[in-house]
Amino acid sequence: MKKLQTTLLYLLLSIWMGVQAQDMKPVYLDNTKTMEQRVEDALSRMTLDEKVALCHAQSKFSSHGVPRLGIPEIWMSDGPHGVREEIDWDSWGAVGWTNDSCMAYPALTCLAATFNPKLSHAYGGAIGEEARYRKKDILLGPGVNIYRTPMNGRNFEYLGEDPYLASQMVVPYIQGVQQNGVSACVKHFALNNQEEWRGHINVNVSDRALHEIYLPAFKAAVEEGKVWSVMGSYNQLRGQHCCHNDLLLNKILKTDWNFDGVVVTDWGGAHDTKQAALNGLDIEMGSYTNGLTSESKFTYDDYYLAKPFLALLKNGEIPVSVLDDKARRILRLIFRTNMAVNRPFGRFVCDEHSETARRVAEEGIVLLKNDKQILPIVPGEYNRIAVIGENATRSLTKGGGSSELKVKYEISPLEGLQKMYGAGKIVYSKGYSSGPSAYGVEIPSAENQDDLFNAAIETSKNAEIVFFIGGLNKNHHQDCEGGDRLSYNLPFNQDKLIQEILKVNKNVVVVLASGNAVAMPWVNDVPAIVQSWYLGSEAGNALTNVLSGVVNPSGKLPFSFPKKLEDNGANSFGREAYPGDSINEYYKEDILVGYRWYDTKKIAPQFPFGFGLSYTTFEYGKIATDKKNYTPDETIHVSFTLKNTGKVDGAEAVQVYASQPKASVVRPVKELKAFSKVYLKADETKTVELEIKAKDMAYFDEKLQDWKLEKGEFVLSNAASAGQVKSNVKIQIK
Ligand code: BGC
Repeated sequence: MKKLQTTLLYLLLSIWMGVQAQDMKPVYLDNTKTMEQRVEDALSRMTLDEKVALCHAQSKFSSHGVPRLGIPEIWMSDGPHGVREEIDWDSWGAVGWTNDSCMAYPALTCLAATFNPKLSHAYGGAIGEEARYRKKDILLGPGVNIYRTPMNGRNFEYLGEDPYLASQMVVPYIQGVQQNGVSACVKHFALNNQEEWRGHINVNVSDRALHEIYLPAFKAAVEEGKVWSVMGSYNQLRGQHCCHNDLLLNKILKTDWNFDGVVVTDWGGAHDTKQAALNGLDIEMGSYTNGLTSESKFTYDDYYLAKPFLALLKNGEIPVSVLDDKARRILRLIFRTNMAVNRPFGRFVCDEHSETARRVAEEGIVLLKNDKQILPIVPGEYNRIAVIGENATRSLTKGGGSSELKVKYEISPLEGLQKMYGAGKIVYSKGYSSGPSAYGVEIPSAENQDDLFNAAIETSKNAEIVFFIGGLNKNHHQDCEGGDRLSYNLPFNQDKLIQEILKVNKNVVVVLASGNAVAMPWVNDVPAIVQSWYLGSEAGNALTNVLSGVVNPSGKLPFSFPKKLEDNGANSFGREAYPGDSINEYYKEDILVGYRWYDTKKIAPQFPFGFGLSYTTFEYGKIATDKKNYTPDETIHVSFTLKNTGKVDGAEAVQVYASQPKASVVRPVKELKAFSKVYLKADETKTVELEIKAKDMAYFDEKLQDWKLEKGEFVLSNAASAGQVKSNVKIQIK
């Protein structure tokens, strides 16, 4: 009995001690408490200095934690298509570690071209795992700036010209990243649609274009993707830098969209302490305190949101509640990432990641032309194959600016072709050479261009088939941050080279690596054209699988290819509309961006938005809706049949566009409202079923400052691209 009593007493004592221990655990460390309770508790323990410290960088890619409370620092890394190598504490130089060579995923234009949100989720999941393994808390991507002009040097990092496509693709990417306890950081908010004068150009854009074209992907990232951080952009909107822009950050992002996460500057994007403090910025990152101009005596403590901010708080010019709001957001981010319970551990460069990278690449490659079914070319068909063009061997994961990657491996197109067709059957000749990649400058190649040119013609003459593998690259003034393209034509004399090759060999397959549309003066003369983007580590494998028919291409263009630059909306208005006069720029094409412009102005593009061929053919049935009349709150159920009428299995990205023929305002001829990637075996038929919320056909009414759905007739069309409408159905909004 006595023994039982002692045991009981001991038991009660231990329970009591356990409870005491629990009670002693500060709330901010207690995972059983809600995040908001933990945030409030942490905040209540912090000094003014500690809170201010949270709001600015402590190194190139990290910001402060609260060391005294054991709250960790935040570590960030570029970028959208791979986790960048470790960068120095204070300079842009690489640290030189040997454990940071990553997997390069295809650039985001390729991801958009898959028209496959499931793949976007896989992509986000994989890159999120890599970021997590590398102990990053914020991955600085994805970028969703709308493709406004083919001249923008950074289009390759974004998701194309259509706000709906970009929205559908960005949401699963974010969810994939964040399921790893790593914050995605959607960028660059907003209107960073060119690199020329990006640090200050003042964008003048209508509210309508802002809300209908430039903001939807950000909105989806916040409201549906629940993104935890957003990066401001370098440029200005209506006279205020976007990293501390009252309209964009305070009103739209944090009030209208209820964003509860962190706004990070683009590096060096803050310009003023009061504006940074009051206009919605939370963490200031950068190289220097004075923008991106020069190294100086300033240290991180001299950042706008460091000592100068503290001074204004201390003298009462800025209320402490402003600081508390920032600190809350930053603490929330920390609890969501590096203090999250059950945070997975991530993984780095594994077979599964190669597989994801390759699948995205294979599904994103777009077959633009295929006369007489010259493609696919199966092994054994030809014994003398010429491969011409620098991009057959050049690393395309290097260069490009902040998205540059140090990769574990990168299979070049030439290596892929050699593996597929046999190295002995292939002769490679470079044809041109572009010089090394260097940030902010062009370094011409030292090689003799005439010799390269002539050798390529000779090689082509002796071949049965020519693969021309060219396009742009990641050099300054190509597809690269910090500058725009100088010409819509292919650089390094490639147009001439293709035309001269055609004189000695008609069997030419042109493969273009680029994140942008280019002029194609030879378009009618080459039998096959393949748009191959920047495909990352698995480039050569993916490309060759498509060229040889192992994979049936199913990518579709996420932006239009105009025949000439002046056909593009923004470029048609002259320098005032793009690139501006170095101070101001006016978005005169307004809501008519991309196919909205070509359709409405009846300008035939070279290749329309949403276009891409397959090795099989598809037959679209007539589009139907579940009924004829809808209220604005209803969902429209759309259906039609799709049949694979060819001999091989394939996938088709079907698209549904909506239009309002009679509206009280200008409306584009049609706008994408739904799409789906449909997989069909040869001869198989499926019924495609899609949903459109009636209210998503509304336009932004500037007077109301809200979305407005007019009553009356709307037309829904199923289409294989913006240029290939298959059938229409009329409905009424009552
Ligand atoms: C780029 C950002 C990038 C940052 C950090 C800036 O120059 O615009 O996209 O995330 O640098 O490298």
